[in-house]
This record gives sequence, C-alpha cells and structure tokens, in this order.
Amino acid sequence: MELVKIAGHLHDIGNLVNRAEHSQSGAVMTFRVLDNLDCDPEKITTIVTAIGNHDEGIGQPVNAVAAALILADKSDVRRVRNADLATFDIHDRVNYSVRESQLQINGEYPLIELKLSVDTEYGSVMDYFEIFMGRMLLCRKAAEKLDLQFKLMINEQLI
Ligand SMILES: [Fe+2]
Repeated sequence: MELVKIAGHLHDIGNLVNRAEHSQSGAVMTFRVLDNLDCDPEKITTIVTAIGNHDEGIGQPVNAVAAALILADKSDVRRVRNADLATFDIHDRVNYSVRESQLQINGEYPLIELKLSVDTEYGSVMDYFEIFMGRMLLCRKAAEKLDLQFKLMINEQLI
C-alpha cells in the first residue's frame, strides 16, 4: 500500500518535462528522488516500474503496484474541467458529463467495479468510449494482474 501511495503521488511528475512520454521521464525523475532519499533499491524498482508503465499507450501492469496505479489513474474520469461550455471539446464534454465515479472492490467476489453516472446531455457514452477505451482495456489487464475481474457499469448498465 505504501508503495502504491508513493507511486500515486509521483506518477505524473514527468509532465514537468513534457506530456509526451511523461511516464518514462517520470520514472527516471522518481528514481533520482527516491535514490537520493536512500530508499530500498527493490522498492525503488517497483515504484519506478509502476510509473513507467502507467500510460495506456505503452504501459502494462507488470507488478501489483503498477496494476493498482493503473486502476486508480485510468478510472479517474473527472479530471481537468473547462468551465467555458462554448469552447468544449470531446475531453471537456466527457469530463463534464461524468457526474459520479466510484471504483469498488466487491468483497464477496474477485471483482473490481467502476461505476459511472453519465449525464448524456453533455456527452454521450460513445464520447466516453472514444477517449477511454484504451484506458478501460488497460484497467481490465490490471485487474487480471490482481486476480480480479474488471466490470464497468455506466448509468446502472453493465458494459
Ligand atoms: Fe499520467
């Protein structure tokens, strides 16, 4: 849990350099930070590997920490908010349309569920998938790494 928390806090530090390949630059930057703090090399390896694999373009849930980081990061739909409706693009519409987002682990079954409430007045479910399909597929792989089944519910409908 502690390693996941550290990875979670630092995972987007690479955006300081550039959004492109930020997972890779973030892994290198995190290595330097943790190495300078004399962290245990095995723990550093786990954390930087997780950070270097959190992007859906090239990432893979290579260990349990990476899997947890992917699930937390990629299920976070309600991100940047543009308040100016007149300038909304598809990302803004999706961010604005998702009213509620819950990631839950079901205690009875080996199941992790992402439950979304989407207001289709602002963005369609298709808009959501246009942006989030790759992220949801990576979430499914991450859940499998943790021996969990990933389920997506949108507006009470199992997807
Ligand atoms: Fe990121």
